[in-house]
Amino acid sequence: MALAGKRILIIIGGGIAAYKVLELIRRLREAGAELRVVMTASAKHFVTELSVASLAGGKVFGELFSLTDESEMGHIQLSRDADLLVVAPATADLLAKMAQGLANDLASTLLLATDTKILAAPAMNLRMWLHPATQRNVTTLRNDGILFVGPEDGDMACGEYGPGRMSEPATILAAIDRALQGDTTLALPLEISAKSGGLLAGKRVVITSGPTHEPIDPVRYIANRSSGKQGHALAGAAAAAGADVILVSGPVALPDPHGVDTRHVETAAEMRAAVEAALPADIFIGAAAVADWRVAEAAKDKIKKSPKAPAFSLVENPDILAMVAQHGSMRPRLVIGFAAETSDVIAHAQAKLARKGCDLIIANDVSADVMGGDENQVTIVTEMGLETLPRLPKDEVARRLTLRFAELLQSLQAVAPLAKTRGGSDA
Ligand code: CTP
Repeated sequence: MALAGKRILIIIGGGIAAYKVLELIRRLREAGAELRVVMTASAKHFVTELSVASLAGGKVFGELFSLTDESEMGHIQLSRDADLLVVAPATADLLAKMAQGLANDLASTLLLATDTKILAAPAMNLRMWLHPATQRNVTTLRNDGILFVGPEDGDMACGEYGPGRMSEPATILAAIDRALQGDTTLALPLEISAKSGGLLAGKRVVITSGPTHEPIDPVRYIANRSSGKQGHALAGAAAAAGADVILVSGPVALPDPHGVDTRHVETAAEMRAAVEAALPADIFIGAAAVADWRVAEAAKDKIKKSPKAPAFSLVENPDILAMVAQHGSMRPRLVIGFAAETSDVIAHAQAKLARKGCDLIIANDVSADVMGGDENQVTIVTEMGLETLPRLPKDEVARRLTLRFAELLQSLQAVAPLAKTRGGSDA
């Protein structure tokens, strides 16, 4: 942690999450940070100045026109002296003021008068968070360079469940540390907006989606229940994030996603050839449910019914994900697979991560009504650990995964080529 000796100005907004800021203040002090605290008038309804001042180890500022404060330290100086401003909880009202440039109390005046980095930890009712007005304000603020941590999904004080809960103190502390070290990924929006240039602008993403059909004869085939909804949603989200997307789709009953170069295939062999032709890429996502086997020799003519049932000999299909992950010089920087499982989901996903040589596996339990349904519940599995997302519409899962992939790609750009550590031929 790079917090020792750092000067942090905390602005506490008026929301129930203000109580968590007490814990944040305690931890920041413990880490050696020097704190100054400003409370809005409504924050004082949720936590007392006395408890904040005792934990922060100093005076709490609140009034814009305070003679004593002005004689001790001008309010402009208060924000200019800091290495970082942290707004927690960042209420809908505070975010709106910041986005509009209002300066009608000490907190908003400081936020407008500063050229120091600002980290906001939003907290509000989920409908307030999802309201187009708040989302517009957040987009404006992100474009202005404001950093964000959270909000998280969770149970709200008002009894509802969804996005809007302030991140836990430990998460905000880690974000403060990252912000102080110049980590700009905190500026990445959750809601991907093509207007803001896009998180994946200039990147090429290849995605497989849907099932494959493996012919038995000209009219029959082996298939599975994959609808392609999650893979197609990912292609749409990556395109919305500004990527150049090639979607290699098996047979599905979905329209081609907007702004995506969609290439239609039937069999695993065709899918493999289409993927090879689409490389090189920055990211490969294997979301297709590729049939594991095909009939060794499909009949040229329709097999006629006879008293003796036909016997098929099956041969294994090429593993497209493993082929891309072990491609050597053509290996995309980020190779992502899916693991649709009906039992021991995480254990199977971890085994696949190692076996196929990819960077991430998105594990999902398909024993519920996921295949063909509109919602999904996924866990991101990496060598580092697990991150479980709540059950969400497939579009929202796609947006969140795309954000993670963009963050990961950014962080990988700073390190050595992955091919070196993944058994690539240029190792
Ligand atoms: N995959 C692939 N080519 C294959 C089989 C799978 O590209 N021939 C990819 C899928 O797109 C997915 C991942 O590998 O990203 C895992 O697919 P899955 O069917 O769950 O794994 P399998 O390797 O087929 O293992 P099993 O069927 O035994 O679970």
